[in-house]
Amino acid sequence: MTIKKVCVIGSGTMGSGIAQVTAQAGYETIMVDTKQEFLDRGLSKIKASLGKFVEKGKMSAEESDKALAGLKTSVDIRNGAQDADYVIEAVFERAEVKLPIFAQLEEVCRKETILASNTSGIPVSLLASATDRPDRVIGTHFMNPVPLMRGVEIVKSLLTSEETLKVSVDFVQSLGKETVVVKDSPGFVTNRIVTLVFNEAAKLLEENLASVEDIDKIEKLSHNWPMGPFELADLVGIDVVVDLLEGIYQQTGWERYKPAPILKRMVEIGYTGRKAGKGFYQLFGQG
Ligand code: NAI
Repeated sequence: MTIKKVCVIGSGTMGSGIAQVTAQAGYETIMVDTKQEFLDRGLSKIKASLGKFVEKGKMSAEESDKALAGLKTSVDIRNGAQDADYVIEAVFERAEVKLPIFAQLEEVCRKETILASNTSGIPVSLLASATDRPDRVIGTHFMNPVPLMRGVEIVKSLLTSEETLKVSVDFVQSLGKETVVVKDSPGFVTNRIVTLVFNEAAKLLEENLASVEDIDKIEKLSHNWPMGPFELADLVGIDVVVDLLEGIYQQTGWERYKPAPILKRMVEIGYTGRKAGKGFYQLFGQG
């Protein structure tokens, strides 16, 4: 199967990043969202990111222009997905938002089109249940920020075919990424680990053990992490962190994944991290 046209559903943090890397790799790309203003915001992020690559000499201005020329947007999922070879869904991490999209994709896409989800932890088999092609549904879990992070978890459900897996691995590798194939289980591998780090850091803060700055500092200095847990949570989005923890907790009942209350309070007051311009550092920082 040859992939020429890619449709990305959602133009937020992840959708815009995924659309950027597929366009950069030369795929005709169309990014879909519910409102033009969301698409415009996604496009501005892509332009800013490409601009930085050019500025740092990692990409020529011509390559950047070519990527942008291959990137279109639409507020109509039918228009975006009907002739796509590969669709990647990257909307909110809520099954009730993702399921109707998969049902709609089943209706509008050609029968051979592969439907991938960037879900961080919703079972791929659940998303596949909204379609008549569970063998052609797979998880492609890109990391944030997509243009910079090299790892992608490829999530194979019990019903994903070997052919879909192979096409997906080849496709994601053609974007300059490295892949690891994992089973369809809550949180996969990456989020089983990183959500516990976020949750434990939040509990340390609740217990007043050390400041946000000091917790990040000691982790960076001691374990050679490029970012501390609070810096990373602010980048990922505190709302996303809570959704991830709750998703794993609801599916497994494992107490350690129950979100620390402070995380939920932050979402309630709109301190969702970098995308909101306010997160751990603005609320609890001492500098
Ligand atoms: P986001 O909140 O930044 O963006 C979601 C976008 O989806 C918004 O622009 C929204 O308008 C759009 N959307 C919602 N319903 C839609 C619909 N019916 N049709 C079209 N567009 C729709 O979310 P983010 O952070 O980009 O997350 C997207 C997915 O990627 C989630 O499943 C998340 O768990 C996953 N993910 C997020 C990571 C992160 O660091 N933020 C990392 C890896 C995966």
